[in-house]
Amino acid sequence: MTYEQQFPRTRPRRLRRTAFLRAMVQESVLQPSDLILPIFVQEGTAQRTPVPSMPGVNRLSIDQAVEIASEACDLGISSLAVFPVTPSEVKSLDAAEAWNPDGLAQRTFRAIKQAVPDIGLMSDAALDPFTTHGQDGIIDETGYVLNDETTEALVRQSLSHAEAGADIIGPSDMMDGRIGAIRDALEANGHIHTCIMSYAAKYASAYYGPFRDAVGSAANLGKADKKTYQMNPANTDEALHEAAMDLAEGADFLMVKPGLPYLDVIHRIKQELKTPVTAYHVSGEYAMLEAAAANGWIDRDKVMLETLLSFKRAGADAILTYHALDTARLING
Ligand code: PBG
Repeated sequence: MTYEQQFPRTRPRRLRRTAFLRAMVQESVLQPSDLILPIFVQEGTAQRTPVPSMPGVNRLSIDQAVEIASEACDLGISSLAVFPVTPSEVKSLDAAEAWNPDGLAQRTFRAIKQAVPDIGLMSDAALDPFTTHGQDGIIDETGYVLNDETTEALVRQSLSHAEAGADIIGPSDMMDGRIGAIRDALEANGHIHTCIMSYAAKYASAYYGPFRDAVGSAANLGKADKKTYQMNPANTDEALHEAAMDLAEGADFLMVKPGLPYLDVIHRIKQELKTPVTAYHVSGEYAMLEAAAANGWIDRDKVMLETLLSFKRAGADAILTYHALDTARLING
């Protein structure tokens, strides 16, 4: 029997008529615990410096980051992802500041762990905030990012993040083999409970622009791009391959980045690998939504909730989003 023949016995609108019916049959739900809040940290005290291309987002000194962490925890947000704004005088070719035990990220982890122990802490394992050229790795004389040398540096950085209290290491660099190398080093050094959320399918995307402004790597990078390590936006089979490799190497969760333009990738990874998947709703997506809302062209709160719900529908378990605080406030009423 076709659907046409079932009508009028079957009227799908019956289940849409009242709020209680709609709620009963709702398939996906967005909760504060699904959300990961990214924060930018800078040196100083009592500093909140607005990021012009991300209205509503500030670079925070550590004391302010602790305040936000506490607020996020009270709202039920699961965790924070910490991105340091590295002063240019400590940037170098070998990115050694990345594994300085007293680096900005490491100090932030310790301060938040102590003051707000119940919120999860995720680190960004990548070298771009620390290199003079803004690439995510160590380069050769032609500018090519060297894989294995970069992986060694990422291992040092990851260990220092784990030692400082990061619960989840988030390698966002796209080097080959880095998940296995980081996992082995964590195991060998007693960090057997430290999770790895691999940026398994990270695309060479133009949506990262505002983030690079926020962490101050845009000027270092100049006109260069990251296409020799981040993925081609045209590919999805390759994302599956990357994701399967990272799982085999010991990743606990997988990340797809950017978010909304790559919902198909989230869906495919979830369908085929049945593993926790996180969507990274990136800076450019945030900026577009805020810009349209500031012009009065869309209803910000409604579009925000609909956008984040779409990640859950596509199969994401968690969402990393700059909208996390406002979204949690809205959900909590
Ligand atoms: C660095 C990193 C980037 C983002 C997260 N980690 C930028 C990049 O790869 O150039 C982008 C996040 C965003 O746009 O919100 N490895």
